[in-house]
Amino acid sequence: MTDRFDTGVAHPARRYNYWLGGKDNFAADRESGDLLAKSYPAARIAARANRAFLGRAVRYVAADAGIRQFLDVGTGLPTANNTHQVAQLVAPDARIVYVDNDPMVMAHARALLTSTPEGETRYIEDDLRNPDKILGEAAEVLDLSRPVGLILVAVVHFLADHAEANRVVGTLLDALAPGSHLVMSYATTDFLTPELKANWDESLRTGRSDVHPRSRAEFDEFLTGLEVIEPGVVPVGDWRPDPDGDEHPSPVEASIFGVVARKVIR
Ligand SMILES: C[S@@+](CC[C@H](N)C(=O)[O-])C[C@H]1O[C@@H](n2cnc3c(N)ncnc32)[C@H](O)[C@@H]1O
Repeated sequence: MTDRFDTGVAHPARRYNYWLGGKDNFAADRESGDLLAKSYPAARIAARANRAFLGRAVRYVAADAGIRQFLDVGTGLPTANNTHQVAQLVAPDARIVYVDNDPMVMAHARALLTSTPEGETRYIEDDLRNPDKILGEAAEVLDLSRPVGLILVAVVHFLADHAEANRVVGTLLDALAPGSHLVMSYATTDFLTPELKANWDESLRTGRSDVHPRSRAEFDEFLTGLEVIEPGVVPVGDWRPDPDGDEHPSPVEASIFGVVARKVIR
């Protein structure tokens, strides 16, 4: 058993589940979530806004861009509007490969993220830092000679090293066919007050947080060679919000960049 199953240690997927109002979390996750929410009070709003962005963006990629296969790295614990549900609502034959490095997430995913009969869902327990291995396994289900929706939502910011983050995203994108779409979100402190920013830095320094925020300029580096879809790189709450959606958080509340971009030539 790995320490990932240690319920006495807070874990990002379970903490995020707590912020989203889910039940798959333990005392240590709730404690960590509450502690972080003290330095960034809008944490819950940000989690919900990020999750809503994921749904809207996957719907766009399936419905507007016509993509029928998805590689979702950093799956998260199953909740409402999981990637395959959104995609298969548009196209029941859509195929989705879910990847996460947390065995607990993958156990829940295998049980709950089940496909339509026409489509397929597959699960890979692996780390984002191994993009070549992930691509090799994903190719058993996805036809990589055809466009893919690559979902990197609220996951790359767990990589502390920016060069490594760039390498990982670049390797994944390089392997995908032109016409593929990247859906990405990423925590930033660009919109925060100096006080909130200092709180975040302090959380990282003391090990209370494992989310490494990056600036707009750093985020743009991930998008080299891609055609950014309107409205561009924006706080997640501003990415094509549903007109009748009940929440429209400000950039300070949902301090996460979101983007959908199309691979042309890389
Ligand atoms: C904040 S959740 C995001 C879930 C989902 N993408 C969403 O936005 O709703 C982050 C997920 O990424 C996973 N994760 C974190 N670091 C990872 C890594 N290096 N490789 C693969 N998965 C990772 C966590 O286990 C967790 O399930």
